[in-house]
Amino acid sequence: MSAFEFTILAIIFLISLSIVWSSLRSGITPVPSSRKARKTILTASQKAPVGTIIELGSGWGNLALALAKEYPERQVIGYELSPIPWLVSVALQRFQGIMNLTLRRQNFLSTEFPEAALIVCYLYPGGMEKLAEKIWREKPDVKMLISNTFALPGTEPDQTIRLDDLYRSPIYVYRLKDNQISRNEM
Ligand SMILES: C[S@@+](CC[C@H](N)C(=O)[O-])C[C@H]1O[C@@H](n2cnc3c(N)ncnc32)[C@H](O)[C@@H]1O
Repeated sequence: MSAFEFTILAIIFLISLSIVWSSLRSGITPVPSSRKARKTILTASQKAPVGTIIELGSGWGNLALALAKEYPERQVIGYELSPIPWLVSVALQRFQGIMNLTLRRQNFLSTEFPEAALIVCYLYPGGMEKLAEKIWREKPDVKMLISNTFALPGTEPDQTIRLDDLYRSPIYVYRLKDNQISRNEM
């Protein structure tokens, strides 16, 4: 094996290790929303009032970039823990010259959410539980939440949209009344 081949293999190994390590830490791999899910989330987002949009776990940036392009006059903020997907998303943002998007490499669970019209996310059941607890505890000034696939525990969505895919994957839409989720059984 040449030094060049060894270097390439070492880089691939380190990148994979970083992604696996971050996935174990956050509880979810950085798998992006499908094209259908992205399109549906963009359509559902039109019902949100004008204001900042937050994406929790922005991964490789696909959805955050789509939201920033859809709403060039609004601020979009993405939070992502995993360094490699975050770096790729920042590179894509710079390459495409998108100015209304801020990508933060931060754990959204230990961050105070700014005032926002809309939160979007594609997490996992445990992440949704932690998010519901955070919203309940901190009462952030957020008007609407759209979640791909996973529901907020203990609260009824205002709308559930089924994707035309193999799993009829749900997209949940919640309106947060008085900056709060209505809590049924938590
Ligand atoms: C399934 S991916 C979704 C990516 C993107 N939102 C999309 O829909 O295409 C979930 C992402 O959330 C990130 N994540 C999970 N928990 C997080 C946390 N507490 N803070 C920041 N990022 C988190 C993961 O690293 C992962 O990249």
